[in-house]
Amino acid sequence: MTEPLMSDAIVSASNTSESNRRGRFITLEGIDGAGKSTHIPWLMDWLGGHGVRVVQTREPGGTELAEAIRQWVLHRAMSMRTEALLVFAARQDHLDRVIRPALAAGQWVLCDRFTDSTAAYQGAGRGMGQEDIELLERWVHPDLQPDRTLLFDLDPLTAARRRAAAREADRFEAEDVEFFARVRAGYQSRRAENPSRFALIDSSQSIDNIRVLLEKSIPNNWF
Ligand code: ADP
Ligand code: TYD
Repeated sequence: MTEPLMSDAIVSASNTSESNRRGRFITLEGIDGAGKSTHIPWLMDWLGGHGVRVVQTREPGGTELAEAIRQWVLHRAMSMRTEALLVFAARQDHLDRVIRPALAAGQWVLCDRFTDSTAAYQGAGRGMGQEDIELLERWVHPDLQPDRTLLFDLDPLTAARRRAAAREADRFEAEDVEFFARVRAGYQSRRAENPSRFALIDSSQSIDNIRVLLEKSIPNNWF
């Protein structure tokens, strides 16, 4: 039997006294190699230390189906439109089965990438029109945006050096520095459109300094 889908539950929760009922939705963004993965375990511990119940997840991925889609997106050749449709198909499943139910139950969600990645990678990086991405965004999650987006910002050359020292490249990581310069600029455009949602994290700093920036990026009155 298929799992029940919870989209309706969160819609009714968000129509009532929103922030008392649903958990906080935090996303991490940035070009590959900017340091998101390095900071996730620390963020989970730090939030847990404040007594918050947090679901850690990622995109594309977070459900069995979406993880299967992730393998295609990261490793199979395809057009930018196919890429965009697949990441949104994965996102729909992830929202239905993981993100919305957790938020509706009052849990926080810490998600490694979300729709800002599509705007940055398929939009600014590959050249897909932002209006097409916004159309898909309005279709899949018209009622939901992250409460806070931690944008790990790093120059593409430093990010490429860090990646090369750390791991084999997937289909995106094999792109050149110009591609990542466009992706970085794409993130800045999204941030300019939603300045209060974004916290800019200077990822050229040391790991210890970045932790201090991360602590400051979550309002005290959320705890
Ligand atoms: P992302 O998840 O954003 O792709 P990672 O967290 O995997 O990036 O970081 C890529 C590489 O850079 C890793 O080898 C990591 O140890 C290193 N790294 C991360 N943050 C820093 C930092 N602030 N200074 C130096 N190296 C870092
Ligand atoms: P990520 O999980 O950060 O990779 P890694 O585990 O190697 O650190 O992200 C996977 C890749 O998917 C990343 O290169 C960006 C890409 N991506 C898109 O192109 N569009 C999207 O909408 C999402 C969510 C990810």
